[in-house]
Amino acid sequence: MTTVLAIETSCDETAAAVVVDGRDVRSSVVSSQIDLHAAFGGVVPEVAGRAHVDLLTPVVSEALAQAGVVPADLDAVGATIGPGLIGSLLVGVSAAKAYSLAWGIPFVGVNHMEGHLHAAFLEDPDMALPAAVLLVSGGHTMLIHMTGAGRYRLLGQTIDDAAGEAFDKVARFLGLGYPGGPVIDRLAATGDASHVAFPRGLRGQGFDFSFSGLKTSVINYVRKHPDVAVEDVAASFQAAVVDVLVEKLRAAAAALDARSLCIGGGVAANSALRAAVVAAASADGRSAFIPSRAMCTDNAAMVGATAWYRLRTDGPTPLDAPADPNLKLHFEPA
Ligand code: KG4
Ligand code: ZN
Repeated sequence: MTTVLAIETSCDETAAAVVVDGRDVRSSVVSSQIDLHAAFGGVVPEVAGRAHVDLLTPVVSEALAQAGVVPADLDAVGATIGPGLIGSLLVGVSAAKAYSLAWGIPFVGVNHMEGHLHAAFLEDPDMALPAAVLLVSGGHTMLIHMTGAGRYRLLGQTIDDAAGEAFDKVARFLGLGYPGGPVIDRLAATGDASHVAFPRGLRGQGFDFSFSGLKTSVINYVRKHPDVAVEDVAASFQAAVVDVLVEKLRAAAAALDARSLCIGGGVAANSALRAAVVAAASADGRSAFIPSRAMCTDNAAMVGATAWYRLRTDGPTPLDAPADPNLKLHFEPA
């Protein structure tokens, strides 16, 4: 039995979890800094780094207490080592290395995006492979062919804004606050998604995505029609994002003859996207793997699951390994 303490501080959530053998989540504590950043309309890196310093020790203590373990019970400590904000990453990575030295247990550096990829696996270890996976977060939009744990091929990605970034920028323009995804999701539920036919970027053109033209269209439309109901704009914008995400996920699954469709990352918490992926999978006779909302947005349980897997395959990470804000996921050649 391998008990891992995992730490996640790549952006604006301070999170810690205790995960046994990569799948048994004994505790998962997430302390959001949303209130601290909302006044600025987005994450302020300097504020995030300082908040992680204040929050990390209590969050780790809470995760250990909820799991009913003490440091002597731990076999490894994992932390997100990139990608993310450097000042935020450094807090979690430095703490994890210090715990590793103090408690005499291995340190494992985890790629945040691999964490999101493992989230579905963590909740559903029997996920049918190969899978077409859509990873959609505030910083990334990637379509991935997954043939096993640690075995991924990149099919396509955004050429400009990430899907979550589009939600955040449109919400900011509409004066809806930060983060934009959850509030647009909520408003869209009462709006008319066919009210405005916003552009579907790169539709029918391979597996890359583009969302910056959509964002500009929303801004231009609202400037021209200042009296439009915000719910209708939210629903029409969300439909444009979800349509291309699901069309490409579905086309990728067909091209790969994948057995499953899977989603991950913060935008995978979106109600319309979740429903559309379930419908697409069932129409095509494939399985859908939709992690719980808490497992889609940033958390440390996914980091603990990935740390366990990386420890088994690659061994511990050297203590002089630096946090890397631009860390890339390792893909198999096409
Ligand atoms: O994965 P995540 O928690 O952090 C990053 O690694 O970026 O993703 C955060 C992103 C934000 O852009 C946020 O607006 C978006 O996920 N998001 C959503 C929803 N919940 C969070 N987007 C659409 N609908 C949601 N319900
Ligand atoms: Zn994330």
